[in-house]
Amino acid sequence: MTLNLKDPSLLKNKAYIDGAWVDADQGQTFSVINPATGDVISDVASVGVHETKRAIAAADKAMQTWKQVPAKTRSEVLERWYQLILDHQEDLAVIMTAEQGKPLFESRGEVLYGASFLKWFAEEGKRVYGDVLPSTADRRSIVIKQPVGVVAAITPWNFPNAMITRKVAPALAVGCAMVLKPAAETPLSALALVELAERAGVPAGLFSVLPTLDAPAVGGEMTSNPVVKKVTFTGSTGVGKLLMKQCADTVKRTSMELGGNAPVIIFDDADLEKAVAGALVSKYRNSGQTCICANRFLVQAGVYDAFVERFSAAVNQFQLGNGLDEASTHGPVITEKAATEIHAKVLAAVAEGAHVVTGGKVSNQGSHFYEPTVLTHVTQAMRLFKEEIFGPVAPIFKFDTEEEAIAMANDTEFGLASYVYTNDLGRIWRVSEGIEYGMVGVNETMISSEIIPFGGVKESGQGREGSKYGLDDYLETKYICMGGL
Ligand code: SIN
Repeated sequence: MTLNLKDPSLLKNKAYIDGAWVDADQGQTFSVINPATGDVISDVASVGVHETKRAIAAADKAMQTWKQVPAKTRSEVLERWYQLILDHQEDLAVIMTAEQGKPLFESRGEVLYGASFLKWFAEEGKRVYGDVLPSTADRRSIVIKQPVGVVAAITPWNFPNAMITRKVAPALAVGCAMVLKPAAETPLSALALVELAERAGVPAGLFSVLPTLDAPAVGGEMTSNPVVKKVTFTGSTGVGKLLMKQCADTVKRTSMELGGNAPVIIFDDADLEKAVAGALVSKYRNSGQTCICANRFLVQAGVYDAFVERFSAAVNQFQLGNGLDEASTHGPVITEKAATEIHAKVLAAVAEGAHVVTGGKVSNQGSHFYEPTVLTHVTQAMRLFKEEIFGPVAPIFKFDTEEEAIAMANDTEFGLASYVYTNDLGRIWRVSEGIEYGMVGVNETMISSEIIPFGGVKESGQGREGSKYGLDDYLETKYICMGGL
């Protein structure tokens, strides 16, 4: 399959290690598939343990110089990278839609969102401050901040660009180096990004990209190699727990952005039009494949029927199709297996009494397409209430009181994003403080940006990405005591 790119040299099929484009040592490759058509876009190098060791050693070497470079100079490199991404927005969007499936308008948006982290951390990286602590006559106590060291990053397929820049920008800004394993479904966006990093002047070795089909081998080396001081991961809670266990042996720092089970709580006093609009975008962005997608709608009894009616009517207007077709409002899910798993969750709910208002099956567009689905008559006892759906399925639960809504929202091991629609100021505070989530959107579901601390509590992870807090994840705090003064 050929992609219509203005700059075809952005489409890479090799790994990028220590500033060079290389094949896998043993010559292995894997195919990257367009989920909308099933076509092979490209065969890409599939690296293993040895290449990972080389990338880590190169990162360590490159970092020794990079951490001494003035923050202002590091910032200028990131600014150039940012600008190059903007200059190639359309090509990056086409590559992303081809390998990931999301509609072009969403890909264009993600490219800008991804670039925003480079701009933000280019600026924030210049503002890393230490501290002078209260002193005594003969001693001074000082705190300095230093880069954490070589960082290994493992990123997901649902945001093939922004989940990378959200990690690499703060890491490079403060003087760390990074080795990255992108998701096997979407390595092409990562390789295009590193091509632009090279053009921007990111030094050899500082940022290597390791596409692979053998995640356990590459991930195993990343989590066991003593040179790696930190592992940052975005993905499922199950894999996150495994990586944390693997990191324990060498006591690495970790940042984990894991699964979610986001509630959207809609009270009787909410502006229903705004609630429906927010609910639609939160649920169906990226065909329901984001960690902060609405997973459960909790709607108060007084507006339940009206909400279901308006929400379902809007869902019926969606245009499912190939993301490269500008008319498509929603694309496929990432794999046929994903579509099958989503359907199994819907069937299980239906077997337990759920009603399908719309959708509820694999689309006749093809085995990767799942129809945008709305379910009612769902209960807290159903699997659907507890599990992350990660697909375009909206179960709408009913509640009566504020206390009940808070208890329902908290009845999960997850705690990433949550949303509340109400016009009662007291309730806004009671609910925002009462629900156990890292992020709360009040009368708003589009809460992500480079300036906010993105992250979760409970089994949704640890650490924060983006914002001024996002630098902390890549910095060590060192205390220096000057005595005998
Ligand atoms: C995610 O799904 O993990 C990222 C979503 C976002 O950054 O908005």
